[in-house]
Amino acid sequence: MSSHLFSPITIGGVTLRNRIAVSPMCQYSAEGGSATDWHLQHLGSLSLSGAGLLILEATAVEAAGRITPACLGLYSDANEAALERVVATCRRWGNARLGIQLAHAGRKASSKVPWQGGGPLAAGEGAWQRVGASAIPFDDRVPAPEPLDAAGLLRVRDAFAAAARRADRLGFDLVELHGAHGYLLHSFHSPIGNRRTDDYGGSAENRMRFPLEVAAAVRAVWPREKALGMRITGSDWIAGGLTTEDAVVFAGALERLGLDYVCVSSGGISPEARVAVGPGYQVPFAAAVKAATGIAVQTVGMIVAPTQAEAIVADGRADCVALARAFLDDPRWGWRAADALGAEAPCPPQYARSRPALWPGAALRS
Ligand SMILES: Cc1cc2nc3c(=O)[nH]c(=O)nc-3n(C[C@H](O)[C@H](O)[C@H](O)COP(=O)(O)O)c2cc1C
Repeated sequence: MSSHLFSPITIGGVTLRNRIAVSPMCQYSAEGGSATDWHLQHLGSLSLSGAGLLILEATAVEAAGRITPACLGLYSDANEAALERVVATCRRWGNARLGIQLAHAGRKASSKVPWQGGGPLAAGEGAWQRVGASAIPFDDRVPAPEPLDAAGLLRVRDAFAAAARRADRLGFDLVELHGAHGYLLHSFHSPIGNRRTDDYGGSAENRMRFPLEVAAAVRAVWPREKALGMRITGSDWIAGGLTTEDAVVFAGALERLGLDYVCVSSGGISPEARVAVGPGYQVPFAAAVKAATGIAVQTVGMIVAPTQAEAIVADGRADCVALARAFLDDPRWGWRAADALGAEAPCPPQYARSRPALWPGAALRS
């Protein structure tokens, strides 16, 4: 029987050869927002992973929107030029379609990189002013963010659109807006991060307004024949926070704006949240969104085994899967999955002799 996971899918105007994505993963290895040689080798390798889609890490649309000083950005000509080399390498030698996640860290910005302990940067460490929906700090170690005023909302919205234009020029096939994990767009949508009393706070309609304005602004500049999606929240995992019903409503609104897919993640809005992590723990959120809307749905989180990924797609709980840590552990995860499911993963000709089908009787000549 043929594999559902390895069947092609068209999202927006982009056809992916299979339903496996490398999930966005911050590398904390940029300089001034610009990609380095780390990105070249990391992404170059993952562009050969067998996944149909490789989505670059959360990439800040303005300098203040970086989580850490070492986060990737796409807010300057220098950032664009540095990424061009990486994208050109992946396109020339790799075989995955390329996406980029555009992000603003909001009140979670100005942090140390994880291997320097995480947490807020001190003043002497280059800390900068965080912005947010409301003056509510993420936790008691962090100063309260400056709530975005009308001019700030326009600036950030336009920064998302400008970064999308740069991503288009660079030749990306897909843009994913980061609307989850407690960052700026999520902090507007969630009642936990948003206590505004203007048109951007209070009712669900008001709390969705800013993320939807950003999505519309990007849709207006991002070509129709390319794919546009958003990573959204299936649960805040905290009383009074976003629920799966909110995700369904939000995904429906994004679909009406012309977005092509959502990736349903969860958590990150508060250190108080209690996340019930386990294999495929976010799949039910994706399944609920898929059942209630017509937008393509990606699921992510603790998907590790090829048979597990195959079952999720075959059962119709999601259209495609994204994996993060499994690809760090095994950058050829897609090849292993193809072997396990009797399917074929793309393999560069330089490595073709490593594929099991070619072993029997094959002479190991150079
Ligand atoms: C090193 C690392 C960096 C991450 N960076 C991002 C990111 O930039 N954007 C994002 O939406 N999620 C990020 N995540 C979350 C992953 O994309 C994914 O949703 C999460 O790890 C669950 O999937 P997994 O169980 O397959 O690892 C990151 C995860 C890891 C392990």
